[in-house]
Amino acid sequence: MDKIVIEGGRPLHGEIAISGAKNAALPLITATILAPGPHVLHNVPDLRDTRTMLALLESFGITWKRDGETLTIDASNLDNVEASYELVKTMRASVLVLGPLLARAGRARVSLPGGCAIGARPINFHLQGLSQLGIQYELDQGYVDAGIKGRLQGGTVYFDIPSVTGTENILMAATLANGTTVIKNAAKEPEVGNLIDMLVSMGARIKGRDSETIVVEGVKKLKGAKATIIPDRIETGTFLIAAGAAGGELTLTHCNPKLLPALPEKLRAAGLVIKEEKNRMHVLRKKGALRSVDVKTMPYPGFATDLQAQIMALMTMADGLSVITETIFENRFMHVAELRRMGADIRIDGHSAIVTGTGKLSGAPVMATDLRASASLVVAGLAAEGVTEISRVYHLDRGYDDLVGKLSMVGARIRREKE
Ligand code: EPU
Repeated sequence: MDKIVIEGGRPLHGEIAISGAKNAALPLITATILAPGPHVLHNVPDLRDTRTMLALLESFGITWKRDGETLTIDASNLDNVEASYELVKTMRASVLVLGPLLARAGRARVSLPGGCAIGARPINFHLQGLSQLGIQYELDQGYVDAGIKGRLQGGTVYFDIPSVTGTENILMAATLANGTTVIKNAAKEPEVGNLIDMLVSMGARIKGRDSETIVVEGVKKLKGAKATIIPDRIETGTFLIAAGAAGGELTLTHCNPKLLPALPEKLRAAGLVIKEEKNRMHVLRKKGALRSVDVKTMPYPGFATDLQAQIMALMTMADGLSVITETIFENRFMHVAELRRMGADIRIDGHSAIVTGTGKLSGAPVMATDLRASASLVVAGLAAEGVTEISRVYHLDRGYDDLVGKLSMVGARIRREKE
């Protein structure tokens, strides 16, 4: 297993190209199950999670080839509808195959994803929603065994909480249902919009992109897709925060500032200079102390839960007290104990972390516990005095395309080593 070693305290200078979004690539890859294809997806990041998703599709009999950032997927053959525990256990987003399999094949047997480091994360919304479209399911030896005789039927699905992958699953299923499906309190994350655009290009009839009510008029069949994955807003945000923590000046290219409605304002309030252009963002940390800001995670366009750990790492170095409240997941403070090992002063009070900025951190051996927690340790390590060793980096490989390479190019002393 690899670890990442960072010699901190070096400011970042230069340009980083942002990759395609993990959380858009995953649903767009699964949407190819809906039609034989061929399908062409551009700007697909090369991540452990995208590889896992492609392995899952392969296990269904689907073939693919990658040429740089372009994936061509041929889903004409679909001879298995079982998503095995072996693959599903490493990636919760595997549940995204449920909707497309049911829509195309009328049956799916998908291993339950189980618990994960950031909370219980059940899939009851997915199952309730699909039931509204007429499926029957039972839980059998850790698997969801679901099926329908004939076509799915349009229905009304209401989400108690706007679930991102829940909305995506129902959307995909509804495209091939008989009749109209209305999704109420749908997630408005840009990755859902990216999926809607792809489905529409496949011939789906969908209204209500970016709104909380989405209406899908089912069609009998869909055709091959051509789609481009949107830039990764979480990777973009992680690098903006990293420059804030380490100091220096970074230009991020191939990104879309419009996908980050909340973060730049918070970073400006903390004292950073952020400039937004069409496909570029520029961040500068001026001399002087960072100011503390409070943050509350919310569904899009609120502050993304996937950037909560990283901004917390930044706040450990700010002047004053910062209250960071997590409202999306019940247990997403795993990074706190590790940041404390680096000298951070953080107290947890229910769903909030109270961070007292100490001005500096010191390098330490730390352990990655989940993807974004690992990213926060990288942010902290870049700014800390001395050496930080982050073990269990496979978490980072799930969601960041060449993080070490990209940071090395802008002056960070960071490398991978065998543990
Ligand atoms: N929830 C339920 N039941 C369900 C589904 C969700 O109770 O059936 C709850 C969750 O436990 C959570 C809330 O609803 O409290 C919202 O979760 P959501 O379903 O929106 O999360 P998700 O779809 O499983 C996606 C991203 C996550 C990101 C969240 C929130 C993908 C593949 N994953 O997860 O990304 O944190 O939305 O924005 O899109 C990451 O990239 O590190 C990551 C965890």
